[in-house]
Amino acid sequence: ENVKLWGGRFASGPAEAMAALSASTHFDWRLAPYDIAGSRAHARVLHGAGLLTEPELAGMHAALDTLAADVESGAFTPTIADEDVHTALERGLLERAGTELGGKLRAGRSRNDQVATLFRMWLRDAARRVVHGTLDVVDSLVAQAKAHPEAILPGRTHLQHAQPVLLAHHLLAHAQSLVRDVSRLRDWDARTAESPYGSGALAGSSLGLDPGAVAAELGFEASVENSIDGTASRDFAAEFAFAVAMLGVNLSRIAEEVIVWNTAEFGYVTLDDAWATGSSIMPQKKNPDVAELTRGKSGRLIGNLTGLLATLKAQPLAYNRDLQEDKEPVFDSVEQLELLFPAIAGMLGTLTFHTERLAELAPAGFTLATDIAEWLVRQGIPFRVAHEAAGESVRVAEARGAGLDELTDEELAAINPVLTPKVREVLTVEGSVASRDAHGGTAPARVAEQLERLAGRVSGH
Ligand code: ARG
Repeated sequence: ENVKLWGGRFASGPAEAMAALSASTHFDWRLAPYDIAGSRAHARVLHGAGLLTEPELAGMHAALDTLAADVESGAFTPTIADEDVHTALERGLLERAGTELGGKLRAGRSRNDQVATLFRMWLRDAARRVVHGTLDVVDSLVAQAKAHPEAILPGRTHLQHAQPVLLAHHLLAHAQSLVRDVSRLRDWDARTAESPYGSGALAGSSLGLDPGAVAAELGFEASVENSIDGTASRDFAAEFAFAVAMLGVNLSRIAEEVIVWNTAEFGYVTLDDAWATGSSIMPQKKNPDVAELTRGKSGRLIGNLTGLLATLKAQPLAYNRDLQEDKEPVFDSVEQLELLFPAIAGMLGTLTFHTERLAELAPAGFTLATDIAEWLVRQGIPFRVAHEAAGESVRVAEARGAGLDELTDEELAAINPVLTPKVREVLTVEGSVASRDAHGGTAPARVAEQLERLAGRVSGH
């Protein structure tokens, strides 16, 4: 039997192309377990309002249990005639409970409040999975940082050699941004913990139902304050799409570095065979596809966010069918991230860092020039003069193809009389790194503390 939720005022069924356009079960079927949970809670409040007897409630719950099992096993699936997940499950319920009892469940609810609630439930569970996957990536970064407590690499700005920093400090910089993505999702969850169930189509229910009871049963903190807002707003979806797009962008910055580090010119890392691919024509190739797909998919996540915002823009209150377009973008973002997480965590966790190469490059490009300037400042020289002297040191060294640590006593004195041979104490990368020992700096002791705090925040996820 073809169940329509709205057949009464129609003389004929929908045109085939109408039904094809309207159908959403190919993507909203994943809301089925949430829809059934909503139905169970709704049956209970109908009973609470005296609209279902005790035996009717038991019968309804038994039918919903069977339906849930059949959905789970695949014995019950949506057909082409079902408009959406709600319609399909209505049919499944009527088949199991009979039309007499099954037909009572729809009182006081609408697909508008249903879908707004179920979508939130799905997203809140997805957010937990995304947090978990993100923390797996953080774990890989933390493990690499722990494995390389001393290694130093040339820190860069503008992709140019800037100042030497600990490799661990650099890796933890990426971890910090991912931990913020996690906290963003947790903040989002607190705002999304309001249930629209009971809002009806837009105006609320006249049947004495208790939206708070449904909210509590479905794991929400409260029910919404405003039934129009409850059914019409999707900022929770857009905010989620932003949080995961930002996460994608943060992952893409890690990915881009791995891609660059893996080139012959950089030679910082070797990818583990399990997380690299070859070329069908060039036998020597070992390509960083995990990193490239991460970089590529981050564009897709941005697209999902902007597409969703464009769908929401200028929609009048309350529900419009446009809102059916709200789900696929975020479903897709989550799906892509779930593919990426284990691969990124695996790739990062198995990277071999060529620490000798990093150490060799760390002082290249006169990355210790700032250390000369700051050493002079500690001798009481104004920074403007010190910067000038350090710059001249670079010029003199560069002119004769020497490093800053190779400047002679005479050359130093000629640049500025205060530049005694003692300055060479800071002209090692180790000395430079160790000197940056204020909170948040790259000195080994500070980085060790940072690592401990970070590991404490993410442990046991
Ligand atoms: N499938 C719709 C959605 O995902 C919910 C159905 C609401 N339909 C309606 N005609 N009010 O948004």
